Amino acid sequence: MDDETRLIRAGSTPPKLVKTVGPPIQKGSTVLLPSAAALYDDDNHVTYGRQGLAAQAALQEALATLEGAVGVALYPSGLAAMAGALLAVLKTGDEVLVSDAIYKPTRRFCDLVLKRFGVKTTYYPPDLDAETLVKGASDAVRLILLESPGSLTFEMVDQSRVAELARERGILTASDNTWGAGYLYKPLHHGVDISIQALTKYVGGHSDVFMGSAAARDPALVRKLDEGVLHLGWAVSQDDAYQMLRGLRTLPTRLERHGASALKLAHWLKARPEVAEIYHPALPGAPGHELFARDFRGGCGLFAFALKPAPEAAVNAFLDALTLFGLGFSWGGFESLAISCDPQLHTRTFKRDYGGPLIRLHVGLENADDLIADLTRGLAAYAADAA
Ligand SMILES: Cc1ncc(COP(=O)(O)O)c(C=O)c1O
Repeated sequence: MDDETRLIRAGSTPPKLVKTVGPPIQKGSTVLLPSAAALYDDDNHVTYGRQGLAAQAALQEALATLEGAVGVALYPSGLAAMAGALLAVLKTGDEVLVSDAIYKPTRRFCDLVLKRFGVKTTYYPPDLDAETLVKGASDAVRLILLESPGSLTFEMVDQSRVAELARERGILTASDNTWGAGYLYKPLHHGVDISIQALTKYVGGHSDVFMGSAAARDPALVRKLDEGVLHLGWAVSQDDAYQMLRGLRTLPTRLERHGASALKLAHWLKARPEVAEIYHPALPGAPGHELFARDFRGGCGLFAFALKPAPEAAVNAFLDALTLFGLGFSWGGFESLAISCDPQLHTRTFKRDYGGPLIRLHVGLENADDLIADLTRGLAAYAADAA
């Protein structure tokens, strides 16, 4: 054979793979099948590289273990997981009940995309009691979407009770459990039908990879989620799947540290004269703490607090004086972050007074006393501008 041909074939059959701690990263869109019969036998063979290569399959198995799931669908981002799970179970004419504290881009998806396909979204107050929520649902409600603690404002709902009551009425439940990360809280163990996560946050843990997951116990629901991914043509890269699997190995250790530091900062902030209120369900006495203590293994690094009322310039002075907390919208990585929340809250249906301007912190893996020193700098700048 000519070099032209030999170069196409050379090295295409690697020597027997040695076993490494992590799975091999198979780079491939094309999958080579062992026989003509296997070409059309997708029950027994992976026939195309969008799904089922080694790193992706290993991640799905590990996430299923974490979530207590029969199957886990993977998506290219957390938002795609939210959209994918909703599309998999909703159809024209259905209504979905959504927490008013849902992650804002999920709300945008409901308001713009679901609406276009004839699905009605109704928002409920994020700390509404389970009985009122489920009993008030119309007969068109097919799904209740939970997020507890809620984005930015950290309200808690009794997910077990909502799931129990919803099941009696034949309504599905799904939870955006990015805060609980499948480790601090396990929605499927509490009867919720679909547990969704932005793996981008704590599972990845390093602020450098996007991915999302939706996990379920009911095989029929798992099939619907899988088919949804298949029909929309979503795929995650093998490198990214490998990175997520690597993140999972240290998830409990990192979460323990994030949680302990966040609690230390929350206690410290509570005692400060510039602070009006703490919104962190892991803090004894804070809103939602009883449900948290009943159902959660621990807290993560994300919580909010309200400064005492002051002009926007003082809030910006607080944020601009921080040197260790970066100003950024994400969370779940090793680094500390802060944002002001108020500009995002005006899209909510149920407006509330939080006691003053709301700041969200993500407490990273830095030394907690160094972070307290940083907040001290911020509060001094706030006090100077508030005066
Ligand atoms: C609660 C919550 N859910 C979902 C997402 C979306 O995740 P991704 O950024 O991977 O799309 C985020 C991102 O900030 C989030 O905070």
